[in-house]
Amino acid sequence: MPGEVIIIDHPLIQHKLTLMRKAETSTAKFRSLLKEISLLLAYEVTRDLPLKYELIKTPLAPMNAPMLAPDKKLVIVSILRAGQGILDGMLELMPSARVGHIGLYRDPKTLIAIEYYFKVPHDVDKRNMLVVDPMLATGNSAVAAIDRLKQTNPLSLKFICLLAAPEGIKHFHEQHPDVTIYTAAVDEQLDEHGYILPGLGDAGDRLFGTK
Ligand code: URA
Repeated sequence: MPGEVIIIDHPLIQHKLTLMRKAETSTAKFRSLLKEISLLLAYEVTRDLPLKYELIKTPLAPMNAPMLAPDKKLVIVSILRAGQGILDGMLELMPSARVGHIGLYRDPKTLIAIEYYFKVPHDVDKRNMLVVDPMLATGNSAVAAIDRLKQTNPLSLKFICLLAAPEGIKHFHEQHPDVTIYTAAVDEQLDEHGYILPGLGDAGDRLFGTK
């Protein structure tokens, strides 16, 4: 469905997200909560992965058992640097997924995203791509990342975040209506600096303790 937003409002996710929002939550706790939430997000986001049946033998009997289809593999692309927090959790659940990185920074005046790093596996055109970044704020970085990643022709693309602002969703889907957004919550609005309100502050700083 074009312009689709899937809010993953599982009670465990909502509870952990509230803990992450609290200003007094430590860096270590913030990091482990993001990892835990990412595991739960990964579970939902991969719900439609295709299965193939393989004849196996249990200790008692042969059976046709479901396995992930080997020709529909995943690549997770982390938007640096806060994307690393979601990537860690996702890799715990899907350890053989391939990983790409895209580095973008926001020009503090124009809020426009500028690319400084790009590396993805050579076979992304044979993989389903999950692009991860905790905060969909103005949407500028996400749009720039998807613009660039579409040039690599992945089999499919999904965008996964923790928090989204309505402005960011609108901007994202004006440019990329074909890419579904998965998020744990949609907050109220952006402030004048492009931060999500009420949000959780700067996800990168809170994740890495850089402030
Ligand atoms: N990036 C963040 O880390 N936090 C916001 O609120 C917006 C963008």
